[in-house]
Amino acid sequence: MIKWGISAGSHDAALAVVDDEKILFASHAERFSKIKNDSHLNSGIIREALKHGKPDIVFWYENPLLKATRRLLAGQKNIWLNPTSYCRAYGIDAPVKWGNHHESHMAAGYHTSKFKKSATLVIDAIGEWNTTTIWNQDKKVWSKNYPISLGLFYSAFTERVGLKPNCDEYILMGMAAYGNSERYYAEIKEMCESRYNFHKGVRWWKSELKEEDYFDVAAAVQRVYEIYFRNLLIITKKKTGQSNLVLMGGCALNCLANRIIPEYFNSHWIMPNPGDAGSSLGAILAKANYKNWSSMATFPFTPYLGYNIDKKYPVNDLIELLLIDKIVGVANGKAEFGPRALGNRSLLADPRDPDIKDKVNRIKQRQEFRPFAPVIRQEDVAQYFDVGNTFQSPYMQQVVTCKNPEQFPAIVHKDGTSRVQTVEKREHAGLYSLLTKWKEETGCPMLLNTSLNIKNKPIVNDEDDAMKFEKKYGVSVL
Ligand SMILES: [Fe+2]
Repeated sequence: MIKWGISAGSHDAALAVVDDEKILFASHAERFSKIKNDSHLNSGIIREALKHGKPDIVFWYENPLLKATRRLLAGQKNIWLNPTSYCRAYGIDAPVKWGNHHESHMAAGYHTSKFKKSATLVIDAIGEWNTTTIWNQDKKVWSKNYPISLGLFYSAFTERVGLKPNCDEYILMGMAAYGNSERYYAEIKEMCESRYNFHKGVRWWKSELKEEDYFDVAAAVQRVYEIYFRNLLIITKKKTGQSNLVLMGGCALNCLANRIIPEYFNSHWIMPNPGDAGSSLGAILAKANYKNWSSMATFPFTPYLGYNIDKKYPVNDLIELLLIDKIVGVANGKAEFGPRALGNRSLLADPRDPDIKDKVNRIKQRQEFRPFAPVIRQEDVAQYFDVGNTFQSPYMQQVVTCKNPEQFPAIVHKDGTSRVQTVEKREHAGLYSLLTKWKEETGCPMLLNTSLNIKNKPIVNDEDDAMKFEKKYGVSVL
């Protein structure tokens, strides 16, 4: 039986396809429409999904009735979206069932984790009414409702410093390392404590703010976020008694705050697409009534679920270009499902070169302060980063301290941290082999890894996108 899961109509529309045993396809709609954060499906992604067969049933990621009541009370426009009519407009005539926003987040994390027992903490901006929920296994045990929302808080300040809310929160997080949190901390914390409705935004706050003040704002916002995040971890532990944590919702992408998790939980899992796009998959996993969940839970989860550029991973050619040009693009295999490029749609570079960070930022036309991440083999990570031997970070979800920042200037942030990606052979044999040969040739154990995308465009999806990238920036893409 072919099941489709759809998350659409808000931001970052996505579609997932699952049969009775495994995940067959999952992608953001933007990769096909070429419109960043596209909120709607398109004929390209539907065509791609249909390659796996017509859907027998469609699961929608949230409850449109509940959402409509909240939007009505919040004074928003476009209150009602009927999932069945929406699907029919795209030629999808299978029956449509809807779920619940936070349940879809929980299921996307809980059912893809390898834990037999776990708590799940979901933190996002806003679903229907829930903004934060805690689950013991798959049972909801605690919740906070709109308008109290950590996600809305973070997005409001993202907008206040001139960035795009629901999109650029990670830039605000990156800016935090350059600021002094003390300057605005008390004031911002007070706003949270007064239960201000951040859905209204904070455009009115401090009209005299200048661009150079934005870094101090970012540092204070991150500090306040971490206080509440820590409290939520404590509550989750108390309410569930579990020692494993699944973290989901858009806020799970705050890799700076995620470093706190090990203080309270022995191990944790964040599905590599924890935001609303990942809920296309979660909608199916929450409602599909699998008789034997172990078949899904033991299925080795992979983030490589999107459009397939079906070629052998070009290890030797990549090494050659890295040695000569120091920067090379790779568009190979199935695209990653989620916001991070993990080796199949990546721009790779030599992290030892002091000029590389500026060069890559120039290519990507990003702000100068933006950091880059390293990719390293699992067995090498503890030697170069301040982590224990069991540390794993296959999806770049946590920052760690680099032991020798002067040796790898391109991948270390201002605060000495790196958002590291660890690679095991069984997860990505091609990338693992590339890192092995790169180390043999140069002695360098890691590469800089950033997403392969043209400014303001989604990550490269197909062969045509890869060709356009190569032509626009003069960087070879293999
Ligand atoms: Fe959400």
